[in-house]
Amino acid sequence: MIQQTTLQRSTILGVGSHVPANVVTNHDLSRIMDTSDEWIVQRTGIRQRYWVDPGTSTSDLALEASRRALSAAGIQAQELDCIILATLSPDHEFPGTGCFLQAKLGVPGIPALDIRQQCTGFVYGMSIADQFIRTGMYRKVLVVGAEVHSKGLDRTTRGRDVSVLFGDGAGAVVMGRAEPGEESLFCSSHLHADGNYARELWIESPGMAAHGDCHPTPEQTARGAHYPAMNGKAVFMHASKRMPEAVMEALQANGKTVADVDLFVFHQANLRINEMVAKQLGIPEEKVFNTIDRFANTTAATLPIGLDEAIRAGKLKKGMLVACAAFGSGFTWGSALFRW
Ligand code: UT7
Repeated sequence: MIQQTTLQRSTILGVGSHVPANVVTNHDLSRIMDTSDEWIVQRTGIRQRYWVDPGTSTSDLALEASRRALSAAGIQAQELDCIILATLSPDHEFPGTGCFLQAKLGVPGIPALDIRQQCTGFVYGMSIADQFIRTGMYRKVLVVGAEVHSKGLDRTTRGRDVSVLFGDGAGAVVMGRAEPGEESLFCSSHLHADGNYARELWIESPGMAAHGDCHPTPEQTARGAHYPAMNGKAVFMHASKRMPEAVMEALQANGKTVADVDLFVFHQANLRINEMVAKQLGIPEEKVFNTIDRFANTTAATLPIGLDEAIRAGKLKKGMLVACAAFGSGFTWGSALFRW
């Protein structure tokens, strides 16, 4: 039983990530739909992505990423107090994928919470974990972002505007109490949504809205309403505006400036979006860590994969001030600032 105390501070104790083995290049896609490496690289910066084999699920990817995060944190799964899992590609409609992950980790009894904030899911997840730790309710929380997009994409020319953008993968962090005087600290998180734009990036069906049956009608199936649909230009425009706003909100809340931040790890939807964000904020190129060329957009898994890759690349070092921002379906957006 954990004692309730007030206002603990949290920190990230460890990070891990995992992607499936199958690399799918732009050239591979050009063999199954009318697209080209040139178009994809020029418009998005993506060169390849990873896709699972048929037997692999979101919770399988989440499990491997979680094991790595636990190992990096130096703790056992049995020490966790809570699991928060963000995904838009769940193993099943219900129950939540967090429950499947919890069983695979072998830790029955602790809460498992799924959140569905898409590309902003990991920022929301870290924020919820931070609140649990700050209030003293939990000591150690596993936050996971995991996606299997490939099985749900329209891999024909009809779906090319969306399907070339997404990849499979998972990432996780263990968040825990910061010891008094510890330099490494989660500073703040800032969350937003505007449901007026919910239909600009969504899957229309299946679902309980609009007609008498949750399954797609023959008409919906014929026009591909069971695949993700996106107003790319609207998403691009809003993302380019909201992500800088969210970064500034985080900096202002902590009395920091852009120059104080050592590393910016942004959501990876389009390299051109991140270049615009960096330009607007006056961030030098070397302070932005991008992974989109190798992983494409892995939605909720993007930020923890980025953090893990930044560590491996020697770009993220102890004591650095890190700003994360994300934008996606909902529309949802947000930021997090932490001392690594
Ligand atoms: O996390 C949030 C998730 N999504 C995003 O953030 C995406 C944000 N939006 C974008 O990144 C861009 O809008 C896209 C990369 C999706 C599209 O770039 P664009 O410069 O806005 O292109 P477009 O939609 O205006 O399409 C230009 C042309 C069209 O052909 P026509 O009508 O000019 O003949 C499309 O049909 O490119 C065509 N096109 C493609 N061609 C080759 C669309 N997708 C493809 C493709 N390969 N994959």
